[in-house]
Amino acid sequence: MSALLVTGGAGFIGSNFVRHVLDQTDHTVTVLDLLTYAGNRASLDGLPPERFSLVVGDIRDAATVDPLVAGADAVVHFAAESHNDNSLRDPSPFLTTNIIGTYTLLEAVRRHGTRYHHISTDEVYGDLELDDPERFTEQTPYNPSSPYSSTKAGSDLLVRAWVRSFGVRATISNCSNNYGPYQHVEKFIPRQITNVLDGDRPKLYGAGQNVRDWIHADDHSSAVLTILDRGTLGETYLVGADGERDNRQVVEEILGLMGQPTDAYDLVTDRAGHDLRYAIDSTKLRTELGWAPAYADFTSGLAATVDWYREHEAWWRPQKARTEAQYAAQGQ
Ligand code: NAD
Ligand code: DAU
Repeated sequence: MSALLVTGGAGFIGSNFVRHVLDQTDHTVTVLDLLTYAGNRASLDGLPPERFSLVVGDIRDAATVDPLVAGADAVVHFAAESHNDNSLRDPSPFLTTNIIGTYTLLEAVRRHGTRYHHISTDEVYGDLELDDPERFTEQTPYNPSSPYSSTKAGSDLLVRAWVRSFGVRATISNCSNNYGPYQHVEKFIPRQITNVLDGDRPKLYGAGQNVRDWIHADDHSSAVLTILDRGTLGETYLVGADGERDNRQVVEEILGLMGQPTDAYDLVTDRAGHDLRYAIDSTKLRTELGWAPAYADFTSGLAATVDWYREHEAWWRPQKARTEAQYAAQGQ
């Protein structure tokens, strides 16, 4: 049995990961989370108190981080400012949380010799042309486009440097776009589902041609556990489930699943610097560590996600009006 410290465990992927770990292993979990606008205590409701605890605190604060790292067998670092549109409005918390926060954790795991897994994104590789036959691999050069992705790239490079210079026992995973329960309504799929539930039309940026490579959050969790168990220290693993779809296709699927005409959406102002396409080649993770996703069918995963938002209005409702007001101010 191991004691995991999970940063950002009250966010979307972190809370799914905590549930997955408690379900699939006998590890104990301590979550360290600042409960920013993106963190939600309710995402952790009902977890067993003998195996789970929540510490509300800041990963940028060494005095908070140090004793928690000292008491952990491994740290899994999800905490971040995660939304591209927010990073275009105000990059500053992205710099401090994503870079200084990661630095603070790396110094703590260096002091205590603790195993560390760093959660990152495919966005560090920039974007691909729609017809590019290549996908991102572990060898693709870094080329981030946004304040968000450049700070994630910076944090990945800190991890690599701490491995090489100080022998920190770390692995990194770069995953594609996640969907599933407990995702904030600022993100694409929950925004459109909750718009339809509210009788509003989905909003597609630009022409809706941008492609994302969708993976269910539970498959991301199983990949991270696999890397923690069997990953080679110092290595990077790309995580993806061959789920490429353009945004228009996703909106049409959501509308179809929710009994609406599939053209009942609006085209709105595009995102500045909008990455065209992401696509992950996860061969290394599959062949070297034997991982495979469980959600092979995006449409059934999406249908379950629609049902989850239908059934959990009390979870998402408090965030909806403020989120839509921010988008409306930008013509989105
Ligand atoms: P999220 O925004 O839903 O959750 C982030 C969590 O971090 C929140 O609970 C928030 O309160 C917490 N947090 C923020 N600043 C903090 C601080 N200074 N100290 C402590 N806690 C803080 O994000 P998410 O979508 O769940 O993403 C989690 C991680 O996965 C991020 O590192 C992100 O870059 C990465 N990632 C996300 C995706 C995706 O599709 N969402 C894909 C690949 C990688
Ligand atoms: O690729 C992994 C990344 O996926 C993660 O690193 C990020 O943390 C996560 O937020 C996500 O980034 P994206 O920018 O791809 O996700 P988002 O949900 O914001 O948007 C997905 C696509 O949908 C993108 O092409 C922009 C578009 N979009 C988004 C919104 C909110 C719309 O067309 N309309 C919208 O209303």
